[in-house]
Amino acid sequence: MRKLEKLLDLRTQVRQWRELGQTIAFVPTMGNLHDGHLSLVSKAKTLADRVVVSIFVNPLQFNDKSDLAAYPRTLAEDERRLAESHCDLLFAPSEQEMYPNGMQPHTQVHVPNMDDKLCGLGRPGHFDGVATVVTKLLNMVNADVAVFGEKDYQQLLLIKTMVKDLAVPTQIVGAPTLREANGLAMSSRNQYLTEAEREQAALLYKTLTDIHDRVIAGEKDFTQLQSRAIERLNQAGFETEYFEIRRSADLELAKPIEDIQLHILVAARLGKARLIDNIACNLA
Ligand code: PAF
Repeated sequence: MRKLEKLLDLRTQVRQWRELGQTIAFVPTMGNLHDGHLSLVSKAKTLADRVVVSIFVNPLQFNDKSDLAAYPRTLAEDERRLAESHCDLLFAPSEQEMYPNGMQPHTQVHVPNMDDKLCGLGRPGHFDGVATVVTKLLNMVNADVAVFGEKDYQQLLLIKTMVKDLAVPTQIVGAPTLREANGLAMSSRNQYLTEAEREQAALLYKTLTDIHDRVIAGEKDFTQLQSRAIERLNQAGFETEYFEIRRSADLELAKPIEDIQLHILVAARLGKARLIDNIACNLA
């Protein structure tokens, strides 16, 4: 596996692969890699000849500066794990390489209708930071396909919307969420949980699946289902930001009977961690 830090070197390597007729898949990350990330890398390998992974902790998407400072940076260990996986190239640019004009980039990408709900409400500016850095990374890597985790479903939809609107020639593919044995979605943020909280956190997925089963069984009062789920989580020690049943296509409020492709999404704090998760709920 090659490790590159400079955009020009990245472009040279990608051009060489292209001259050989090889295709490229890309997995953007912020590092602190776990098995969930590595499953994205494995998926990427099935989609193209070469796999590029980026590691860049993007300051622009942190609305809370203490969260940015605390974000785990484990580059040496990440590099080791990637070298053992199917990754051909690790791109690990500096802040200066990504944002030569500093942290107030002259151009930013804003995807309206996607950042005014769910995680966008609790994290103002977050999705502009994501859209901006992902646009840059996609332009830098120039991959045929890029893989994003379905755990961040709102992010995945936002990126699909942005790529379509801006005619970015990279296909966006979602990959399923990897879970711990107790159902907890894998996330870099799980390491902020104590052992006891890790067990407790399983209730998040359990509540999602319970509500999923009730919707499938025909319950139509979504407002009541949502309130009951929030109550259950809060009673168990979570501080729930949202628990919502939404339309899968655009994350607008779901209308019972009319909408049949749904997603149930949750964000909640437990101890020091802010956790998010979701599941699809298909009534077709
Ligand atoms: O999902 C993430 O890890 C980040 O939001 C991403 C897509 C790498 C952009 O910084």
